Amino acid sequence: MSGVSKIYDYDECFRPQYHFSPPRNWMNDPNGMFYYDGEYHLFYQYNPFGNKWGHMSWGHAVSPDMVHWEHLPLALAEENGEMIFSGSGLVDWKNTSGFGIDGQPPLIAIYTGHVPGDPVRQYQCIAYSNDRGRSWTKYDGNPVLDIGKSDFRDPKVMWFEPGAYWVMTVALSVEKKIQFYESADLKSWNFLSEFGPAGSTEGLWECPDLFALSVDGDNSKVKWVLQVDIDSGSVGGGSGGQYFIGDFDGKFFKVDEANSPKFLTPESSPGKMLALWLDYGKDFYAAVSWSDIPEEDGRRLWLAWMSNWQYAQHVPTYPWRNAMSLPRSVELRTTASGIRLFQMPARELKQLRARHFQVAPFVMAADSKLDVVPEITSSLLELKVEFEVKDAQEFGLRLCESEFDETAIGIALSSSEIYVDRSKSGFVDFHDDFPGRHRAPFLPEALVRLHIFVDRSSLEVFVNDGRIVFTEIIFPGERSHGIELFSIGGSTGLLLFEGWTLKPSMKSGNRG
Ligand code: FRU
Repeated sequence: MSGVSKIYDYDECFRPQYHFSPPRNWMNDPNGMFYYDGEYHLFYQYNPFGNKWGHMSWGHAVSPDMVHWEHLPLALAEENGEMIFSGSGLVDWKNTSGFGIDGQPPLIAIYTGHVPGDPVRQYQCIAYSNDRGRSWTKYDGNPVLDIGKSDFRDPKVMWFEPGAYWVMTVALSVEKKIQFYESADLKSWNFLSEFGPAGSTEGLWECPDLFALSVDGDNSKVKWVLQVDIDSGSVGGGSGGQYFIGDFDGKFFKVDEANSPKFLTPESSPGKMLALWLDYGKDFYAAVSWSDIPEEDGRRLWLAWMSNWQYAQHVPTYPWRNAMSLPRSVELRTTASGIRLFQMPARELKQLRARHFQVAPFVMAADSKLDVVPEITSSLLELKVEFEVKDAQEFGLRLCESEFDETAIGIALSSSEIYVDRSKSGFVDFHDDFPGRHRAPFLPEALVRLHIFVDRSSLEVFVNDGRIVFTEIIFPGERSHGIELFSIGGSTGLLLFEGWTLKPSMKSGNRG
């Protein structure tokens, strides 16, 4: 990045046009996200030297709106045999760390130092910036928390206002535990408590996040969300994210029985389904929320790495590998099964809308297939579709469709599920774990609402206001622009079908 003058045109095959991707080279987890002085900061696990995982360092970008990104030089580099693993960032408003100068709050990054060897060492470190994040200094008293473990990583730090101290949420990955520590100054940390194993314990636990949210928008009802990723054994296979709903009193996280999954018995699929999943697609990992979003905004915003450890090193893209999901706002709402997390695309994305198109409502006859809006040939799309359940057994739509490929979104009433099927989505055979149909349990009521985003090589589907989400990468043919509706074994009402072609946002200001 820094010192390299080549300008990538962001028009390579499969290059996302409005999702964040690094100019070149390998990227995994989002890191260190905070908002300060009009800028959303996004750091990310980055290999400055290649298109595969290695030499982990923190890449960096800033944005006024989470949609248009400006790349900045590497923030934290691998040094002296110590890689910079995932972690968080924040504004130290009260200068508790003492790193501030001239009355300006210092910006702090909290990361895992990873030292390969036998044994591997992982410990928590901090770095600070006094120039709006443009340069970073590693604290000379690092590590700030070392318990002598090999799998102790991904610290997320927040200010706990009632106790007026910092809380670190960090994973003991192999033990499938989350630990909590407190600190007055970000430099010395005391153990508070731990949580787990619980929920899905098949894979390593990584990249936790902890935050409070009001329930149903009612500020007198607050619950805490503990987000925990697992590197394998997720609902769609491979890596994915689960969450717990409960209370955090500044010391302990206590999960709510009433808001835990109870629709499946432990016998039905041990470990696997007794979790609340963030996403039913395969490509939403290490979600982490922005710190220091202004109170007057009030949203909890996050994004995730849009890939899966099963095949991330093999995806057919060059000279970069992997992108981030869309920025989303997360909310808690009461459902018949208890309180659940809902995710919706951030409203800032509306500025990308270009050409509007729509189809008048009609009833799709039994066993019909219908090419809609054939004049739309963009692979940057936002769609809003509303189906009325009638007597069809299965209905939905196919996107990125041609005579050779398609990606299907379907509601199958006989098996009570909603699915995304990318087994014929184009280039699928670069890895055995890539093609497939990914499912979420779903008992539709009268209406099914879908909000869909396509960006050349990705598809995000928000179902019924974000109660269920699918995030999937796809590699369709260059001319696979078809949008087809289908209704099998009966009819289906189409109440709404409208969309927009979208403008690219990643082309300007992207110096590699
Ligand atoms: C998750 C993860 C983290 C780790 C980082 C290393 O994807 O394994 O636990 O900090 O990636 O790149």
